[in-house]
Amino acid sequence: RTKLPAYNSVDDAVSLLRHAKNIIVLSGAGISTSCGIPDFRSANGLYAQIQEDGEYDLSDPQEMFDIRYFREQPEVFYSFAKQIYPSNFVPSPCHRWIKLLEDRGKLLRNYTQNIDTLETLAGVQNVLQCHGSFATASCLRCRRRVPGTDIEGEIMRQEVPKCSVCRAEREAARAYEKSASAKGKPKVKGGMIWGDEEEEENEWGGGEPGIMKPDITFFGQALDSKFDECLFKDREKVDLLVIIGTSLKVAPVSEVCTHIPHSIPQIFINLTPVAHVQPDICLLGDADTIVTYLSDRLGWSIPPPPSASA
Ligand code: OAD
Ligand code: ZN
Repeated sequence: RTKLPAYNSVDDAVSLLRHAKNIIVLSGAGISTSCGIPDFRSANGLYAQIQEDGEYDLSDPQEMFDIRYFREQPEVFYSFAKQIYPSNFVPSPCHRWIKLLEDRGKLLRNYTQNIDTLETLAGVQNVLQCHGSFATASCLRCRRRVPGTDIEGEIMRQEVPKCSVCRAEREAARAYEKSASAKGKPKVKGGMIWGDEEEEENEWGGGEPGIMKPDITFFGQALDSKFDECLFKDREKVDLLVIIGTSLKVAPVSEVCTHIPHSIPQIFINLTPVAHVQPDICLLGDADTIVTYLSDRLGWSIPPPPSASA
């Protein structure tokens, strides 16, 4: 006997949204394309652009965001980074729709894979930037974390930012060694060593001062532990999952769909179908148009973008 799916129509989506109290919105690059930010995997996406440019020494465009490749050739990422540095973009109807859900007390959390911070600009409070952001940067060698603005100048000049703490330690150690060997004292050992024999590559980026990397998640890097912590809590509470503008190709964020209970309905809103997910309701088309339509049906109005002067 064939069982009819419990939910499958736009009407069902409207009704689910009306009654849900704890919605998880899982978003990706597709909610920012209308802001002029390319996504990754579309025909006109970043990976295709990087490939076409042919300007970068990469065997696969995804290496642009690969931690092993970055350690070896950070200059490739820094010749490109200013292109993805958040600048004067205005939140899309989708970002503001997430804010609308929050204003109506329906948003449990927005898990976003985007690093453009447009959810925050739209006023969304409960957003988790699963793939980090440019808000902070860390030294790959000594792990020191600084505000992202500290490396903004280098990003704009397409230079590789170096850690000032590592540099200072290295200079101090060199100075000490000079005076120590002059006086016949032993060389410094322990802690951060800059002795001659330590000069070769080490796992944190070499004997040179550490390279600073924006705290956006690269392939080969773990997500912040907050991701697991939030998901562990939220899976007990969530009553609706809305996935918008993502190809769901990158784990572990893509696994949110399978980590929440099977009984929770899922609505998938995307320009293109994604073969490996089976949402209850699949709404294909432009995400801004679809969320605007849903809001009209619900009698809700999407808040305006924050004023340019704000
Ligand atoms: P993708 O580029 O993989 O997928 C974006 C999806 O959005 C595609 O399926 C598009 O069809 C869809 N899309 C584009 N414009 C749309 C529109 N106007 N309305 C609706 N849908 C639209 O981007 P993500 O899934 O976000 O990670 O990529 C996931 C991760 O892969 C990124 O966070 C990034 C990348 O590598 C890292 O760099 C670690
Ligand atoms: Zn350092």
